[in-house]
Amino acid sequence: MNPSAQRKFGRVDLSVTAFAFGTAPIGNIFRPVPDEESRAMIETSWEAGVRYFDTAPMYGHGLAELRTGEGLRWKPREAYVLSSKVGRLLRPARRADIDFAPWADAAPFIMRFDYSYDGTMRAFEDSLQRLALERMDICFIHDIDVFTRGAEQPAVFAAAMDGCWRALERLRREGVVKAIGVGVNEWQVCHAALQQRDFDCFLLAGRYTLLEQDALDEFLPLCEARGAAVVVGGGFNSGILATGARPGAKYNYAPAPADVMQKVARIEAVCAAHDVPLPAAALQFVVAHPAVPAFIAGTRTVAQLRQNLAWFSHPIPPDFWAELKATGLLRPDAPTP
Ligand SMILES: NC(=O)c1ccc[n+]([C@@H]2O[C@H](COP(=O)([O-])OP(=O)(O)OC[C@H]3O[C@@H](n4cnc5c(N)ncnc54)[C@H](OP(=O)(O)O)[C@@H]3O)[C@@H](O)[C@H]2O)c1
Repeated sequence: MNPSAQRKFGRVDLSVTAFAFGTAPIGNIFRPVPDEESRAMIETSWEAGVRYFDTAPMYGHGLAELRTGEGLRWKPREAYVLSSKVGRLLRPARRADIDFAPWADAAPFIMRFDYSYDGTMRAFEDSLQRLALERMDICFIHDIDVFTRGAEQPAVFAAAMDGCWRALERLRREGVVKAIGVGVNEWQVCHAALQQRDFDCFLLAGRYTLLEQDALDEFLPLCEARGAAVVVGGGFNSGILATGARPGAKYNYAPAPADVMQKVARIEAVCAAHDVPLPAAALQFVVAHPAVPAFIAGTRTVAQLRQNLAWFSHPIPPDFWAELKATGLLRPDAPTP
């Protein structure tokens, strides 16, 4: 798979590159990424033909949007696709008054959730200011899942299906955004949103990967039927599918539990038998699904980014996928490259 291959974005009049640059790491998640490294990663992506960038107000309390806007400032606007998110408002504050966890050296803004109509309009406008752009191509409603909101989720979801939906639907009608959707870590929430509202797309993080494919049951078939595009973030499950099952490997942004370590180790044994790097399989598997136009990969260094770009087009023999299915490590109905 060519990382710069242009793929149709569901029913929307838009194409994205199969490999997308995810900006959570340049929001300084867990530890800082220097400005120069952040700039160099955006430039390296561009040189490799990557033309889809995903960011959010949450990543580094605005820092990722600021860095993304700066990195893309002098690129021709029609040459790339940018997604960001609504659901949080940022307000300037003294550093001492801000709880930055899990972000390091983030921007001095306090975040608060707001899924109202007015809050969504304000958040959208604020993002354009931080990015210094006149429009966003794709806008996701961020973090309305149980994974991030716990017991509050039903109320948050209902608020978003009203306030955010009305605001985004209006912005889409006015042409300030081409595609609107939901960006979360649970396919069930995306499924419920698509049943209620006419969303164009979803950013599903970590829930359709080489490790887990439950989204094949109901959600992905519904997306195919409705022409909704699904971009996959967290396709390394936050690390373990890039690093392998080694001590300290991350799954869902925390140390991987024993059952996940064991399953990844078994997948790695099949990889070794076919001379396939695990991350190459993780990257290429995701975009084999017809509803999935892009893999949004997060990287912390230029070296990681270059490696991922190379892995994206690493040859993988058909026998490899067949063996994963035969050994029960991959669902038999999962589309493979
Ligand atoms: N709710 C949402 O809408 C949502 C949620 C999650 C993600 N996303 C989007 O999806 C993007 C990607 O997700 P993610 O960054 O959370 O997770 P991810 O892609 O699953 O994992 C990224 C991490 O994997 C490790 N990694 C990547 N390439 C590597 C390599 N070549 N060698 C070794 N390790 C490597 C790095 O870990 P280390 O940092 O430890 O080196 C990196 O930070 C985000 O940036 C964001 O744009 C959206």
